[in-house]
Amino acid sequence: MLIERIERVLRANLKEAAHPETPPRLGQALVHAVMPGGARIRPQLALAVSLACGDDDPHLSEHFAGALELMHCASLVHDDLPCFDNAAVRRGQPSVHSQFGERLAVLAGDALIVMAFRSVIRCKTRQAHRLADVLGYLESAVGPSMGIVAGQAWECEPVAQIQVYQRLKTGALFSAATMGGAACAGADPRAWRVLGEALGEAYQVADDIRDVIMDTVALGKPACQDQALDRPSAARQLGLEGALGYFDQLIANAIEGIPACRGAVRLRNLVLKESERLLPLQQRSMALDPLASASMASS
Ligand code: IPE
Ligand code: IPE
Ligand code: MG
Ligand code: MG
Repeated sequence: MLIERIERVLRANLKEAAHPETPPRLGQALVHAVMPGGARIRPQLALAVSLACGDDDPHLSEHFAGALELMHCASLVHDDLPCFDNAAVRRGQPSVHSQFGERLAVLAGDALIVMAFRSVIRCKTRQAHRLADVLGYLESAVGPSMGIVAGQAWECEPVAQIQVYQRLKTGALFSAATMGGAACAGADPRAWRVLGEALGEAYQVADDIRDVIMDTVALGKPACQDQALDRPSAARQLGLEGALGYFDQLIANAIEGIPACRGAVRLRNLVLKESERLLPLQQRSMALDPLASASMASS
């Protein structure tokens, strides 16, 4: 099972973080940031692509997948800070800064980024010549021009284009998952770009819809934040019905973007399962309820 491989590598990474010299509260904050997990979709996607490409170096693919999740967790810890979204809850528990304070949350996010790189650099790959490419995908997904840092920084500009903002803050890690997953298995990453880009954008559009139609308990994080924080959002820009149509189009693009390969069926099922998990039928009918749209317009 993909998820077992992912949890195993994450536990191994956290064991290293519990080094006797690590300040104890920082160690606890690191565990809190990673466990229990959320959907673990980025590492699942990376491993599914590696498998579709033969997965001839499972140690490398697992550590790359784990590193993506550590980067994602780091981005959530920093995103929740008072200076960004000021969110008290994440994954149904207190966010890292709520539990451990802002200083440890900043440091825990920093440490997770370092741990992500270290995990790939130190893994016992049989194909050391692949490391530079794989690390390159990790770096650009979080970096200041094409990655999460750039995406979050667009919130600090007076004007941002929503698609650019969303592709950077969310899509970049998904494209890294598909392209880096292929690179881990020695396959040509270019064939895997479309799947990552389309699924990543779909994921953020779904997050924008869920932010409007679900409550804090169901989300495990604060609801109705995009309006409250005046963030660019697909639901605000296109309306709920428009955003839902756009989401469906992106999911169709993602499925169409799966290259012909032995693992194509598994990948298609993963995309469909995620699409249903993010926006189940009941949520869809809520999104299409004129009352939901009206309450969004009036708030
Ligand atoms: C949350 O990502 C942030 C977004 C980019 C939408 P996820 O919805 O994947 O969060 P977890 O990992 O499941 O908690
Ligand atoms: C998601 O940002 C992307 C990140 C870099 C964390 P959001 O602020 O939209 O995500 P949530 O809704 O807090 O998970
Ligand atoms: Mg944010
Ligand atoms: Mg947020």
